[in-house]
Amino acid sequence: MSEHTANIAASSISLSEPTTAPAPVWSSRFAFLAAAVGSAVGLGNIWKFPYMAGANGGGAFVILYLGMVAVIGVPILIAELTLGRRGGAAVSRCFGRITGGKGRLWNALGWLSAGTAIVILSFYSIVAGWALAYAVKSVSGSMQGLAPEDYAAHFDTLLANPGEMIFWQAVILGATASIAAGGVRGGLDRAVRWLMPLLALLLVALGVYAAALGDAGAALRFLFTPDFSALTPEAALSAAGHAFFTLSLGVGAMIAYGGYIPEHVSVPRAAAWVALFDTLCALAAGMVIFPIVFAFGLDPAAGPGLIFVTLPVAFGAMPGGAIAGGLFFTLLVIAALTSTLSLIEPMAASLANDGASRRVWTLRLTAIAGALGLVSVFSFNIWSEVRLWDAEKTLFDWLNHLTTEISLPLGGMGVAIFAGWAAPKTLLRGEFASGKAYRVWRFLIRYVAPLAVAAVFIHLVI
Ligand code: PFF
Repeated sequence: MSEHTANIAASSISLSEPTTAPAPVWSSRFAFLAAAVGSAVGLGNIWKFPYMAGANGGGAFVILYLGMVAVIGVPILIAELTLGRRGGAAVSRCFGRITGGKGRLWNALGWLSAGTAIVILSFYSIVAGWALAYAVKSVSGSMQGLAPEDYAAHFDTLLANPGEMIFWQAVILGATASIAAGGVRGGLDRAVRWLMPLLALLLVALGVYAAALGDAGAALRFLFTPDFSALTPEAALSAAGHAFFTLSLGVGAMIAYGGYIPEHVSVPRAAAWVALFDTLCALAAGMVIFPIVFAFGLDPAAGPGLIFVTLPVAFGAMPGGAIAGGLFFTLLVIAALTSTLSLIEPMAASLANDGASRRVWTLRLTAIAGALGLVSVFSFNIWSEVRLWDAEKTLFDWLNHLTTEISLPLGGMGVAIFAGWAAPKTLLRGEFASGKAYRVWRFLIRYVAPLAVAAVFIHLVI
């Protein structure tokens, strides 16, 4: 038996377990790429990446981040997509199926990942809600021509009002549920096929606007001139952590999406496309934000408030700023929505086994995320003084820390160890056209990725 036939045989063994319904498949390679890029491109690219780059020395951080994406992000992305393809989208069963039932304990990793995704959804949807509130307020003109300090006050007023935050979050979760309830073909596939081209169009249009009216030269220098003195171990570790978050790794999202890949699509190539588009979108977001920030003499290292406080100051004073601001926050909402869809999927695919139960489970899961989200909502107002163990961290900070900074890298490390050491060798070899590419991948997944993640993890915990 040739190696290739052996691979196919190995993979069909793992798929021959009975399932209640035939697995759905993305309608095309484009639909799959749109969904995967949609999951990857989100608040992490447009909100987090620019402020992280801003706070960590610009170009130097960008170089580190690119290295981390190439060396640990892409290999783990290839592993996750393949595990889904060969073990099925239900992350709670995928690991056991791949090891022919012997590795059932690994399924705990699947449950942990899917649970983490729901917790992330509970607060990710809050930030997406802020973006939606800002999109509506920008277009209504209420954000125009205020004094600079009024923009900070504006954001503080939103955070102080739980009812308003809950309202906007509910709209985001409602939109997520109504798309996800339609299943893969009738929901996700149909939505991402037009949302992602729209997102690209908005990014390009806003990039042109920012280049025409802002200081593009200063932004380019900032993003691409490396200041190597900023290359601290801290910056390296936060670049590694961000590589995980931005590629949606470690929470089962890419495993679930991998479960629906059409047979003719090459996983390593798809992973490279996803990483490339994800990076391009992060850089493009930087090229929308920084030209404007520099033209107005604002602070590029303003941190999380960069988008909700600093940028509105500029939009409020620019020609066409109401429309540009409205489009910018709409871009953020679309990016977030195509990510929230993938946060539900690992749990939905694990719990639902037909169309009807899929609808019920997506509703239940979004309701759970919404209820849990109250903890984060209140941590900005009525519970803002509550502290557990750490005087610096609010409850929102804790949820973020435990999921994106602990559970997510652990999930990624688990996948790397499973794919590199526990899964049958033929399973992943079958995805690579060349033996050399496979050997490079195998080295990265067995040694480099787990060690790099261990370093991130140890640093975060200590
Ligand atoms: N990749 C998303 C972003 O950069 O905003 C965040 C994310 C989405 C993480 C989906 C994990 C996930 F499953």
